[in-house]
Amino acid sequence: MPNTRDEGQRPIQTNPSLVVEEGVNLRPYNSFGLPATAQRLVRIRHESDLRRVIDHPELGRAPKFVLGGGSNIVLTRDVEALVLKMEILGKRVVEEREDAWILEVGAGETWHEVVRWSLEQGCPGLENLALIPGTAGAAPVQNIGAYGVEIKDRIEAVEVIDLITGRPVRLPASVLAFGYRDSVFKQSGFGGLAGKSVITRVLLRCPKPWIPQLGYLDLERKMAETGITAPDAKQIFDWVCQIRQAKLPDPRQIGNAGSFFKNPVVSEEQCRDIIGRDPGIVHYPMPDGTVKLAAGWLIDACGWKGKSVGGAAVYERQALVLVNRGEARGAEVVTLARAIQESVYGRFGIRLEPEPVIV
Ligand code: EPU
Repeated sequence: MPNTRDEGQRPIQTNPSLVVEEGVNLRPYNSFGLPATAQRLVRIRHESDLRRVIDHPELGRAPKFVLGGGSNIVLTRDVEALVLKMEILGKRVVEEREDAWILEVGAGETWHEVVRWSLEQGCPGLENLALIPGTAGAAPVQNIGAYGVEIKDRIEAVEVIDLITGRPVRLPASVLAFGYRDSVFKQSGFGGLAGKSVITRVLLRCPKPWIPQLGYLDLERKMAETGITAPDAKQIFDWVCQIRQAKLPDPRQIGNAGSFFKNPVVSEEQCRDIIGRDPGIVHYPMPDGTVKLAAGWLIDACGWKGKSVGGAAVYERQALVLVNRGEARGAEVVTLARAIQESVYGRFGIRLEPEPVIV
């Protein structure tokens, strides 16, 4: 009798085209480089792969964990749920309208490559979002944003597959409940889609005429330094890459998940009180009368830059970013994050909320 039990990382062939890998090392698949193992993992290269999983008598009912570029997760343990690793590729300009170019990209495409490609196609509009780590499919989930642009401003619709029925649905941007680093895909209550559907393709809208977004301090500095007052989209793309490279660690060299905390929003009254005690606090008045505070400044003011717990550390050049100094474990990252939250709360009375999902 041959031994039919597959072990280690050998794929199990459940039907001719559904391959389930067992015991998969997730370290290369999360930008923090944290150690964890997926008990079972299926690579989704096409919508039909997802339908095969959903139609499978056992896998269809199993709890599922959708993995994109792994750039917004902190893995603190092995993953028991079936990991769906989204690898759907494809980039095309699907329509040129009078008011916009519409681009369609597969969920597994690397976001930064999408931005670079869109410029090559002569479709400007995504340049401020250059170098954000992760995949195109993960971008709408947390409504990625940088230098004055959020992806919600550039989404026409997303295509998802319902994890229960296996049906494909196209959801227009208007129903995605976008907020600051938030969307319907992060919400699990009534109407939320967390764990209920998987993004397979994203339809991006680059508005016409193109209007450069330059109202961000770091970009204003670049204009002043170079004397270029009317940059084109490629110039803004290059500047954004330079700004990010100067202050944010490259996850391929130093593991990290971008900003670890959201910038907290407080009332005008609360802000006045904090300014009274700390006049230097970096803050941005919002259109609705609330005030957004720079979490990086708050953490920096508490003296956290360069501090560490085990292999997890606060990045020296940007206190909002936690990094993996080598052999960090997820638990160390979480311990460091909690200590930061406590010290910021102790000094400013503000609770910082983590941006990545802690698994
Ligand atoms: N600051 C400090 N000390 C620090 C870090 C920041 O004093 O250690 C000050 C800076 O001098 C600046 C202010 O805080 O005056 C804000 O810093 P920065 O402009 O670098 O932006 P941020 O608020 O830290 C946000 C996003 C980033 C995005 C940048 C640019 C969040 C949580 N983060 O960072 O997004 O790239 O603005 O738009 O909203 C991400 O979400 O992963 C991310 C990197």
